[in-house]
Order: sequence, then C-alpha cells, then structure tokens
Amino acid sequence: MKIDPHILVQTSLKNWIYLDSCNHVAGGLHHTGSSLSLAVPLVLLLLKEAVVCNGGKTSSFTRKVEKSEDMPLHSDVFAAPSGYNAPQQKTRGDMNVTWEDLREGDMGQTFDSNKTFAHYESNPKKGQAVLYVGDLSYADDHPNHDNVRRDTWGRFVERSTASQPWIWTTGNHEVDFAPEIGEPEPFKPFRHRYHVPYKASGSTQPFWYSIKMASAHIIVLSSYSAYGKYTPQYEWIKAELPKVDRTKTPWLIVLMHSPWYNSYNYHYMEGESMRVAFEPWFVKYKIDVVFAGHVHAYERSDMSAPVYITIGDGGNIEGLATKMTEPQPEYSAYREASFGHAMFEIKNRTHAHYSWHRNEDEYAVTADSMWFFNRYWHPVDDSTTK
Ligand SMILES: [Fe+2]
Repeated sequence: MKIDPHILVQTSLKNWIYLDSCNHVAGGLHHTGSSLSLAVPLVLLLLKEAVVCNGGKTSSFTRKVEKSEDMPLHSDVFAAPSGYNAPQQKTRGDMNVTWEDLREGDMGQTFDSNKTFAHYESNPKKGQAVLYVGDLSYADDHPNHDNVRRDTWGRFVERSTASQPWIWTTGNHEVDFAPEIGEPEPFKPFRHRYHVPYKASGSTQPFWYSIKMASAHIIVLSSYSAYGKYTPQYEWIKAELPKVDRTKTPWLIVLMHSPWYNSYNYHYMEGESMRVAFEPWFVKYKIDVVFAGHVHAYERSDMSAPVYITIGDGGNIEGLATKMTEPQPEYSAYREASFGHAMFEIKNRTHAHYSWHRNEDEYAVTADSMWFFNRYWHPVDDSTTK
C-alpha cells in the first residue's frame, strides 16, 4: 500500500477510500479489523500537510523575459515579393481528410514573432492551415494606431497566407476603437483588411462565423462583441451548434481570443462572463478543443471536456506573461511562459495528435503533447478522472 501522497478516509464503518493530495478518490479499501482504523488515518492526515495541492505541471523552463521590439520597417520580411504577384500565384492543394494545422495567436511583428513563424515553417509536420486566435499586428501599440504596421504585418505573414488558409479571430488589438483620434467605429481595419466568409454560416458580422475544413467544423467567436442573451452572436451560436454534422465534420473546434480557463495573473477571469454564457453548450455539443490567445504564454487544460488551450505565445511587442496563480489549479495540466506554436494533427475520425513547440528548442522538439480522442466518436468517461 503506497500511502504517502494519499489520505485514508473512512466512509462507513468498514469501508475506506484513499484521497490524493487534492482530495481525488485514488483507491478503496474494505477493512474488517479494528486495530488499523484509528492509527492510520491520523498518520496519513499528518502526511497530507506536507503535500501541496497542484493541478498539473508548471514548467520550470527558463528563457529571456525582456520585451521584444518590432522589427524595423526596412526588414526583409516586410519587403514586397519580387516578380509579378509572385506569392499569390502559388496554388493551394486540396485539403486532405488528414490534416495538420498551426495554432497561434498574439503574434505581432517582433524578432520573436519571426522566430515563431520560422519555427512553424520549419516544423517537419508541415501544417496545412493556420488557426489564428486573434491579436494580429499590434498596430494600435504605435502612435495613432499606425496602419503602416498593419501593412507590414500583412507582408510579414504573406509568405504563408499566400498559399495556406488562415482562419482569423479578432482580439482586443483588432478593436481599434479610438474616439480620441477620431475613430469611433470598432474593428474598422480588421473588417476591411481580413475578409472572412461569415455570411456563408448565417452570421451577420465577420467577427463570429464558422467554416468547415476537411474533417473539422471550426467556430470562431468574438470576445469583444456582445454575447449576452438575445445578442446577434448569442443567437448565431445557439443556432449554429445544432447544425454541426459530426458524420461530415467529426472534429468540432472553437477559436476565441480571451481564454475561459487561464491560471496566469494576466487577463485573469476576463473570459469568465462568456464562459458562463456558452459553456453548457460546449459540453452538450461535445466540442473537442477550444483555442484561445490573449495571455502571452502557453497553458493546456486536462482531459475534461472540452480541452482548453491558451496559445497567445506568438511573440508580440508586449512580452511574455510570466506570473502565474498558485497553486496551479486542478484544471491546468501544463503551463509555461515561453513563445512557441502548436500543431493539431487530425489522424482520423477518432484520434488527433496535438503538440506544442517552444521557440527555444530545435524545430522537431515537442515540449508538450497529448492525444485527443474525439468526444463524439470516441467518448472517454472522464467523470471520475482528474
Ligand atoms: Fe489580446
């Protein structure tokens, strides 16, 4: 009997259960004698005092934490491509049922952004599409929301956007609500620069919509548009979720900017009101995974439905989020304040492999990974697991 991380609790006269350090049931014991029953619980109660209740792993990986600077305007990554419309002439191959894609957000256009981008391009898994969870250029961090920085960001990512689909989500840096400089209309630069097929999914705004891509149904939500009851976004997702056909698109993925589950001290609980509004539907309709950004770090929740991943670690001008709440919450399986990118590889109807790659590592190194079991086609009873 291994006892040190557990506490023995009497549930009836003859039955005992083991609780781990966070009060999860870890095992059971039916004891018929009387000599053990008083002594053991006391000893184990004392042992519990020395164990800190932690959810998952907080990485101790160290990296520089200074803010990165935007690359200068004359950087080669911002230069127009040579030749006539050269990148746009790349052809886009048909998407396979098995596909891989990049999850990224909060990228900006710093030297760290370029490193993230280069790592994605060099990843031997070779992504086929990019799911981008908001905060694109950070132009609004420059005086008067300098839209030259939106131009340069467009050039910066063009080497991929010219040939791969990028699925756009709005972040707070797309709001661009600035009445002090004469701009009272939110989202104007995003609306005009990033056209998304929102009308095809019955949406009335380009900030929330869905697309079907290969075997995935992807829902994009807006953290900075109204989502309360009776609002357009609320009514849209309420009608959208029942329409998802898991026989045609087995994987159901949601993108948003502000995370619902976030144990960093940055933007803590900012996503809470949207979570309260929508989470019951996310469980009911068996959403597989929710990707968010906003927090400039990495975090993955446990296997409970759905899996929530914060991946706002693209490398923007505002630097890393390094301060975390302690102890690590139970829902948090892995967290690390590093820049990086992730790959989500849909293998078939039931399995997908997910991996996160930090910029400090070589291209093929995986810092965090897990297998996804499709929640509709391969449900796992996680009601008693951590
Ligand atoms: Fe953000």
